[in-house]
Amino acid sequence: MLTGDYAAWMWFNFLRMENQTIQLRRGELTDAARLATFAARTFACTFGPDNRPEDIAAHLEASYGVAQQARELTDPMYVTLLADAGTDLAAFAQVRRKEPPPCVTGPAPIELYRFYVDIPWQGRGVAPCLMSAVQDAATEMGGRTLWLSVWERNPRARAFYHKSGFRDVGVADFYVGPDRQRDRILVSPIDPRPIHSPRV
Ligand SMILES: CC(C)(COP(=O)(O)OP(=O)(O)OC[C@H]1O[C@@H](n2cnc3c(N)ncnc32)[C@H](O)[C@@H]1OP(=O)(O)O)[C@@H](O)C(=O)NCCC(=O)NCCS
Repeated sequence: MLTGDYAAWMWFNFLRMENQTIQLRRGELTDAARLATFAARTFACTFGPDNRPEDIAAHLEASYGVAQQARELTDPMYVTLLADAGTDLAAFAQVRRKEPPPCVTGPAPIELYRFYVDIPWQGRGVAPCLMSAVQDAATEMGGRTLWLSVWERNPRARAFYHKSGFRDVGVADFYVGPDRQRDRILVSPIDPRPIHSPRV
């Protein structure tokens, strides 16, 4: 579980977990290979059990890889946040400017595009800290509404987003390979608080 002073972590961007320290920082081009491996693995772990292997493979081919992650890490429309546990990443999130679906009606929308916490770190306080940094990054991008899409068959993520203040506003198609699935669209107003983590 999260230990230490939460407010202090928010300032220094370090999360002290038992005998490990996690640094929350922005991803850089040099992180591309590490992020590509981590992102593909966490996607496959999350959705592999409920999807056909060939569909997962097609999605990984289309959406992950060192070249793709390098493009995203250097794209000014994206911000990538890493929870770096040293040898391994513990989690990552990406926010980006993207035209939202019509059911997102709030002002200045920013998409929370990816949000993944590795299994050993789930339920231990990493996710809420990363969400707080996501809010800060979206605020810096001028956002006032955070929106995301989550598979309707992902109850843990839906529960986490619900307790993080998101509400359900609609549905959208999402393709894993050729398999059409239904995502829920969630939105949350971005809290206009002072930015807690100016160096993330
Ligand atoms: C979604 C995710 C970021 C949430 O982080 P986390 O550390 O697991 O979140 P928490 O444990 O703080 O909260 C999850 C909540 O879901 C609940 N939960 C767990 N399994 C559940 C299930 N099968 N059904 C419903 N709720 C569930 C937990 O009890 C917890 O609620 P509580 O705090 O009220 O008890 C993380 O699990 C993750 O990265 N999962 C894999 C990737 C993923 O699905 N990403 C989202 C893509 S849109």
